[in-house]
Amino acid sequence: MAYAHIEVKPISGSCGAEIHGVDLSQPIGNAAFSEIHDAFVEHQVVFFRNQDLTEDQHKGFGRRFGTLNIHPRYVPLEGHPEIFPIRKDPEHKRIVGESWHHDLTHLPEPPMGSILYALEVPPVGGDTMFASQYEAYESLSDGMKELLCSLTGVHDNRIQSPTISAGRNEERTSKLREDASSEEEPECEHPVVITHPESGRKALYVNRVRTHRFKGMTEEESKPLLEFLFEHSHRPEFTCRFRWQKGSVAFWDNLCVMHKALNDYPGHKRYMNRVTVNGARPV
Ligand code: SIN
Repeated sequence: MAYAHIEVKPISGSCGAEIHGVDLSQPIGNAAFSEIHDAFVEHQVVFFRNQDLTEDQHKGFGRRFGTLNIHPRYVPLEGHPEIFPIRKDPEHKRIVGESWHHDLTHLPEPPMGSILYALEVPPVGGDTMFASQYEAYESLSDGMKELLCSLTGVHDNRIQSPTISAGRNEERTSKLREDASSEEEPECEHPVVITHPESGRKALYVNRVRTHRFKGMTEEESKPLLEFLFEHSHRPEFTCRFRWQKGSVAFWDNLCVMHKALNDYPGHKRYMNRVTVNGARPV
């Protein structure tokens, strides 16, 4: 695709592109915005460098794409309920988002995307990986595609006991809300293969964090095929890896990429703010 208002540089053969020539702190004209949107749909996750955003500017960019989500489990940034602070202080060992996942697929209408902004990064490490679920689906055999298209995944948030939540809060800088462990969230069903509403491409839509079985089957019965899909979904050739700098922004499409934060910077600090854009029921 040709772009007149922005420069778009892919960072891998499967997904991910850096966008240059945009200052997200300033109002973005409709022509440039439409190209950012096109690049997002084409590359599935887009990155911006050297941004300097207030919380309101970060939220303002998110609102160009939809209404903003208030994270159901984590304590938000003070004064900004729509900002999920993803933090690690040097003394903490655990981080948020260590396993491959889509965001919040236990909700009937999971987010369409998330916009992560780096405030402070470690000297090395703390990269985020992304995996194209278009590539994951398209690389399967016709027989497997046909089988998966007939299946529905059952997602839930595996609400933790208050003791487990308290333990997590000891280990991590980003804190779970006190009421997060007692909140009852029902199971939620989504097709195992979804069609992206804008690209029209099919994507695999299961993740180890929240998909625990197929509809009409037990967990034990579902496990072998789910395990195959979980491992298959992040084969290296489907991924890109983003190295953060202070002021970097990543905006991922939560329908067609999964992501994973790398926990490889012990003793260092990493401070990010995330704005999450609401989406529709995947079909
Ligand atoms: C997440 O949103 O799951 C965390 C991503 C990151 O910190 O790189």
